[in-house]
Amino acid sequence: MPKASSLLLANIGQLLTLRSASDGPRRGASLSDLGIVPDAAVLCVGGKIVSVGSTKDALRDPWLKKNRKKVPEIDCGGRVVLPGFVDSHTHPVFMQPRLVDFEQRISGASYEEIAEAGGGIRSSIDGVRNASKTALAKKISRALADLARHGTTTVEAKSGYGLNLESELKSLEAIRAAAREWPGTVVATFLGAHTVPPEYRGRSREYVDLVCEEMIPAVEKRKLAGFVDVFCDRGAISAEETAQIFGAAARYKLAVRAHVGQLSETRLGPLLEHHPASLDHMDYVNDADLPALAQTETIATFVPGANYFLGLSRYPDARRLIESGVAVALATDYNPGSSPTLSMPMAMSLACTQMKMSPAEAIAAATINGAWALRLADRKGSVEAGKDADLAVFEVSDYREIPYWFGANRCVLTIMNGVPSSHLAS
Ligand code: NIG
Ligand code: FE
Repeated sequence: MPKASSLLLANIGQLLTLRSASDGPRRGASLSDLGIVPDAAVLCVGGKIVSVGSTKDALRDPWLKKNRKKVPEIDCGGRVVLPGFVDSHTHPVFMQPRLVDFEQRISGASYEEIAEAGGGIRSSIDGVRNASKTALAKKISRALADLARHGTTTVEAKSGYGLNLESELKSLEAIRAAAREWPGTVVATFLGAHTVPPEYRGRSREYVDLVCEEMIPAVEKRKLAGFVDVFCDRGAISAEETAQIFGAAARYKLAVRAHVGQLSETRLGPLLEHHPASLDHMDYVNDADLPALAQTETIATFVPGANYFLGLSRYPDARRLIESGVAVALATDYNPGSSPTLSMPMAMSLACTQMKMSPAEAIAAATINGAWALRLADRKGSVEAGKDADLAVFEVSDYREIPYWFGANRCVLTIMNGVPSSHLAS
């Protein structure tokens, strides 16, 4: 992997710093505060941001004056620069697209009907079980490269299509192998509780015991993941089983997160007792749970790509959550069943047009609050001295164009831990 040296980005038209006056994730009005610096420059050294300011001030800096010849300079030509996106919810460990499900849904079947008939998550299991770790790592690497092309520099990556001890460990090892080859940052999540695999049909309690007693200890022993996730919903894992899994995770010092409220409402109180880093989807949320949620640092992560791709007219009620003071993030939910997209700008565009989030709110949700959702806000999600040098350069002159030009990729350069990789001829 290339090593980070020093780098000066100058002549930035709009730099969205996302710097924060107060600690904690963004909520309410603070979600719209992008900390914009016009005519800006950012100096990165050894993979870290060392200074942020106007181009004029940067060029007057004594250290830079002395070292100017040694520091490679990128002229951003008036473009928009922002923190690299933090995609806090992806499922990249699968082999094949699910084209049969896709066509069945177009013909009128729902996501749940397809899953009940043996399609859905279950139809991705064989591909993973039969694949080598190297083949899986190759697929993940391709996804990571594509994420970076769309401006993402930090990615959460879940297992969850192996659903037995061997294939879940293989999936997490494949994530680790791919992460080592990528200059960006990968956070691995164990999702053995994605659904009950067919061989445990009707015996979900036994499968959940296996997750708690064998899989979680094995994942922890090999240090393969920082988080444990559960698909807590109708037809997948129940709220009681989720609490059991969260309890096991805590015993092994693993943090937790959950898919919740995608298909049906689950009351959040019992889940919040386990301090999840995030609760994701949140299409169905009981109003009575919002005050308690707003009191926590648990992030509600919206994944509108799934609503779009499943052809739903209903989207999460972002306005209701934001106005209740809940801290919200946006993610792609990249997966073969419900959201085969790697584009954070697409997720942001959907958030704006379908969920009535403003472009500024969508950007904060895709950067600093995504970092909070991964408990990485001390290093990621904003452009501030001391943070990791993760930046995205967009071929636009106003940040609102990022969600505006939907379906086209305007990201021209991504810098990951100080390593630049340019994507498109500009
Ligand atoms: O987040 N809801 C559960 N997991 C994924 C879908 C997984 C799949 O269908 O393969 C999601 O939408
Ligand atoms: Fe998901």
